[in-house]
Amino acid sequence: MRTKGVLILIVALMLFGCNQDEIKENSKIRENNDMNLMPIPKEVNLTNNKFYINEDFKLSVDGKIGEMVTTNSTRFLRRLAGRTGLFLDQDFITKNSNDKSAELQILSKGLGKVKLNVDESYSLEVSEKGIQLSANNENGIIYGLETLLQLLNSDEEGYYFTSCKIEDEPRFPWRGLMIDVSRHCYPVNVIKRNIDAMLATKMNVLHLHLSEDQGFRVESKVYPKLHEMGSDGLYFTQNQIKEIIEYAKVRGIRVYPEFDMPSHSTAWFIGYPKLSSKDTVYSIERTWGIQNPAMNPASEYTYQFLDKFIGEMAQLFPDEYFHIGGDENNGIHWKDNKNIQKYMKENGIKDKHELQTKFNQRILKILTKYNKKMVGWDEILQPEMPNNIVIQSWRGKKAMIEAAKKGYTAILSNGYYIDLFWDTERHYLNDPVLENENLSPEVEKNILGGEVTSWAEFTTTENVDSRIWPRTAAIAERFWSPRDVKNVDDMYRRLEMVSFHLEELGLTHLTNREMGMRRLTNNENTNSLENLINVIESIEGYTRHKREGLKKYLQQSPLTRLIDISYSDAPVARKIRKATDEYLSGKNSALYFTDNSEEYLKYELKKLSENHKKLKPIIDNSPILKEIEQLSENVSIVAKIGLEAINSDKKYSKSQKEKLLKILEKAKEPIAEFENRIIPAVEKLIKNSVKE
Ligand code: ACM
Repeated sequence: MRTKGVLILIVALMLFGCNQDEIKENSKIRENNDMNLMPIPKEVNLTNNKFYINEDFKLSVDGKIGEMVTTNSTRFLRRLAGRTGLFLDQDFITKNSNDKSAELQILSKGLGKVKLNVDESYSLEVSEKGIQLSANNENGIIYGLETLLQLLNSDEEGYYFTSCKIEDEPRFPWRGLMIDVSRHCYPVNVIKRNIDAMLATKMNVLHLHLSEDQGFRVESKVYPKLHEMGSDGLYFTQNQIKEIIEYAKVRGIRVYPEFDMPSHSTAWFIGYPKLSSKDTVYSIERTWGIQNPAMNPASEYTYQFLDKFIGEMAQLFPDEYFHIGGDENNGIHWKDNKNIQKYMKENGIKDKHELQTKFNQRILKILTKYNKKMVGWDEILQPEMPNNIVIQSWRGKKAMIEAAKKGYTAILSNGYYIDLFWDTERHYLNDPVLENENLSPEVEKNILGGEVTSWAEFTTTENVDSRIWPRTAAIAERFWSPRDVKNVDDMYRRLEMVSFHLEELGLTHLTNREMGMRRLTNNENTNSLENLINVIESIEGYTRHKREGLKKYLQQSPLTRLIDISYSDAPVARKIRKATDEYLSGKNSALYFTDNSEEYLKYELKKLSENHKKLKPIIDNSPILKEIEQLSENVSIVAKIGLEAINSDKKYSKSQKEKLLKILEKAKEPIAEFENRIIPAVEKLIKNSVKE
């Protein structure tokens, strides 16, 4: 009784000393939900029990065990200890344990492989008595371990795994992430932490976009001027590539290269201008967009060069697939080159598409010689190409369906362009094969899966994680989970859990934003800037590239402004929009940290309406923030309008409504490349507040 009394006193003192608002916001609702899995398994049954763990917890690995299981079961132990603070004594796992007393029994029936179509299934059972994880091979085991970590939860009694029975396997065998390391290049470490995040979300293909107009990013011993002259010294050595491939392999992830040709290829020509279609002096391209330089398809030199180069890279990258790009060749340098035009006439080639197909056919021969299968962007899909190539569909899903119907294997990237800054929901609901597409099972089988594409015009070592994660985890679920897993609210709830767990892998997607705000405010209090960034989003699409009337972006431009730490799903704006819909539909249920949606709306809108006053002095002392001053003011004005609309009790006249909507219309204009994402909610609130 006495300790209880002291405790109450301490808690009361703590409450007394704290601002009530802080308490509210800091206590993220723990929705007491044990279902935090992402991707959701094929079959999952939570069985309403808990397996509590203590410092005696051990795992035992048995069966066919290689590095995949030893490395990842050791990682599992360290992550488990890290999350719980339990001093788990078990040392590095290096061989079969055969310890029947261990709480976690792991049985792998086969060694792991990093190959398309490998069996990745696993079975996991957590009961009060213990945990069984088994799989036909190591690939399944490492996914089961990730699932198990997502089942870790806690209550007053301690840490526990939620008991369950899971039978899991992926819907698609190709679950990829393309990282463009050409527009901006990152250290090996950045790639490694993204590989860890890929395993955590059960992705299995890393596609490295290694050459571009703006950079050639891999060491070539055969043609050293490629990386020496085409990279500003920022490239991966062959040893580093091997290190990345090995790191990924242990995590069940294939790594395959893309060398974009014949276009997007300026960086090759700086050292080897003879490869190009225009006789000129080349330098690294510093602007973005489609460029004219292209390889010369009418010259034997090109094929001799590519034969040797591909031979070298085919050895470096053991994966059976090899991406040749093939996108966005505007044909201008081909048209301007007399020899190329003559070659076309002599060979009856009528346009640039046919010429590119001829080029691709030659490249295909080279790839085949080195036992590689060709992957290319959907431009390479031409009737003359054989169907043992993989089409990566980026311009539209139709091309992928068409390709699959013609017997080509295909992967979808259209809809997974995360540099377009769509809401996660839009990517998430983009299914590679919708039910109503009515594809035959044979055609559906040709659709291997998809790839998220992380293009790097606006990414740096600092912000790249926040551009890829957490949205990619939701897309990874699309690639893994059954088609009918598509509850958007639940996806956002689980995504928040996944997102913060990714931090333990060294991902900087959350800390980067905090660091960026500190820099922007010159180490002032960042609360008001955070309130703002939580409701504004980067403009969607590629409008950032255009910047009418503003300075154009170059490769060397700073990517440290507020826009570079922006959200594509501003979390508070999204919650305000949801709360508004609930409030207006009369649901008014308990939402977020409040008892009902009206209370939540009033709380957030009031805070935002007062925010500009707090942020203004900081902006005044941070010239780099000057560009968002009007935006900050607008957000406060719009929030105030929303708050008044809720309080108006349906008193607005039609003309008042029109006046307010006009103000909102004006506030929709992007400022500093941002959009104010509470406007849709406030519009609804006004429309609801008009006299009948
Ligand atoms: C592409 O986005 N140009 C493949």
